[in-house]
Amino acid sequence: MCGIVGYIGTRQVVDILLNGLEQLEYRGYDSAGVAVMGENKINIYKAEGKLENLSSELLIHKDEYKNSTLGIGHIRWATHGAPNVINAHPHTCNCGRLVIVHNGIIENYKELKAELEKKGAKFRSQTDTEAVAHLIAYIYNDTKDLTEAVRLATKKIEGAYALCVMHSDKKDELVATKRNAPLLVGVGDDEYFVASDVPAIIPYTKRAMYLNDNQIVTLTRNDMTLIDAEGKELPKKVETLPWEPVALSKMGYKHFMLKEIHEQPDVIRNVLVGKLHSAQTPIKLDEVKLNKDTLKNLNRIQIIACGTSLHAAMIGKYIIEDFCGISVDIEASSEYIYRKTVTDEHTLVIGVSQSGETADTLTAIKQAKAKGSHVLIITNRPDSAMAREADSLIPVNAGIEVSVAATKSYIAQLVSFYLLAIYMAEIKNTMSSKALYEIKSEMMLVPQKIEQILSHKETIKQCAQHYANTKDFIYVARGINYPTALEGALKLKEISYINATGYPAGELKHGPIAMLDESMPVLSILMKGSVYEKLLSNSEEAKARNARMIALTNSKDEKLKDLFEYIIEVPDIQELLSPLIAMIPLQLIAYYIAEYLGKDVDQPRNLAKSVTVE
Ligand code: G6P
Repeated sequence: MCGIVGYIGTRQVVDILLNGLEQLEYRGYDSAGVAVMGENKINIYKAEGKLENLSSELLIHKDEYKNSTLGIGHIRWATHGAPNVINAHPHTCNCGRLVIVHNGIIENYKELKAELEKKGAKFRSQTDTEAVAHLIAYIYNDTKDLTEAVRLATKKIEGAYALCVMHSDKKDELVATKRNAPLLVGVGDDEYFVASDVPAIIPYTKRAMYLNDNQIVTLTRNDMTLIDAEGKELPKKVETLPWEPVALSKMGYKHFMLKEIHEQPDVIRNVLVGKLHSAQTPIKLDEVKLNKDTLKNLNRIQIIACGTSLHAAMIGKYIIEDFCGISVDIEASSEYIYRKTVTDEHTLVIGVSQSGETADTLTAIKQAKAKGSHVLIITNRPDSAMAREADSLIPVNAGIEVSVAATKSYIAQLVSFYLLAIYMAEIKNTMSSKALYEIKSEMMLVPQKIEQILSHKETIKQCAQHYANTKDFIYVARGINYPTALEGALKLKEISYINATGYPAGELKHGPIAMLDESMPVLSILMKGSVYEKLLSNSEEAKARNARMIALTNSKDEKLKDLFEYIIEVPDIQELLSPLIAMIPLQLIAYYIAEYLGKDVDQPRNLAKSVTVE
């Protein structure tokens, strides 16, 4: 959701900014831009679309910036104003001497704009950010102190922001600040880096300082000063990041998404290591910091999440209720935060997030914490803002996920929910030892079963290509796989732009069935178990309306051949674990349809991997 970078030091700045932005491209790719200190003025270069467009633009001007060692950069996910060059960051004041990049949303920008226009500010873009550039510039004109101008400006700004600011008067100074948006400073030798996220700085330094809300940092080539909103100097907490530079490679796959789908068996093995030793021993989950008596008496859980993580949460609800008999509410974070939620110190609140930075989920868990709830976070980023708020933290260890459409992080979240549910069931004594033994032994076989599916991916590819030219797609399931239907549909929507919807199959007859005809593919997630026969009947009803029926099943039932034009077979598995298996072909179907249609699989239009605005 926009990414910002900054650098002050002795190296050529443009390469550092571009490398940093490349690492942050998961946050948006509507436009990119950099500003670099020149001899007499700040030079700005921008381009619409992906970073590669900016790189080409910069090549043309390389003589202008070859000696420059100070600059800022931005990658945009458009919120205010179309994704074009005018709205691309960096933004400047009237004279172009003060330049800023911003991640977030300035909520009172209209009021600020009106006030600043009266003073003579000339706005060129439709962005909220430009108001901040003019505001800081006006204050700077009086104070001639860049840090003080930023500090006073933040008193007038409402909303969320991470800002990095430079001024052509200040050839040895960069100022950065944040509120409700991520920002950290990388500390090198006679050089400093500013970035929205660790991967942008890790190739250069492992020493870094996370900024807290409302803190302002001033960087010169050989010093760093940190102050609070009142101007009081603060001690600097520089830590060593537990990160290694990762070369992001597709390893021979055409897209990161396909590579990440293939990583899933190992991801599951990774999540299980140290937690599930054998089918006979209890789950070890030291990450859960609630004491066992509290857990024994716990009778209410809320789970909050967005997007794919919300679908993992829905399956989490199903298994926690089934295994532990605890009532679980789930809600999209964006809904949770704007109503009177009944949450208290007796409620366990679980936040689920791949990135650990999603603004809505972060706000939701902060609200729950303020009401005294124990907050447990399941995330792929143990260094994220959510992780820092957590009372208990379960890192899912899926590794960096590059593709915007989440795959391996979803599977890792699901496995974490299984571990948590079994762990709680063992403490609460709500499952028989036979059921525990069976589920744990079968969990250990899941990676192998996924490998089996992946080895037959060519048949799934054929099926996907057969339906690729459809305008709509319906996924149906019942019970524990209803969220799988939602996630299958979401994957297809995200990367192919086909209008796909997931329904609980029993609901088809209450409206959606009206849409069925010979052009509509309907995919039934028909896993053996409690709802198999019911779903079969619902599939018959759809077939009777001439829909193009597809089955995803672990059943060998011969009669399915009359009902379905395509049958995707998956290895047998007990119903309660079937979401782990059923999701894999759905990821592949979405992938192969999007690939066949020539879509930008890893960076689908209008999306960003980390959404740090509400
Ligand atoms: C964005 C991404 C989705 C993701 C959602 C929640 O919309 O495009 O893929 O599921 O955010 O992200 P989180 O990091 O909180 O899981």
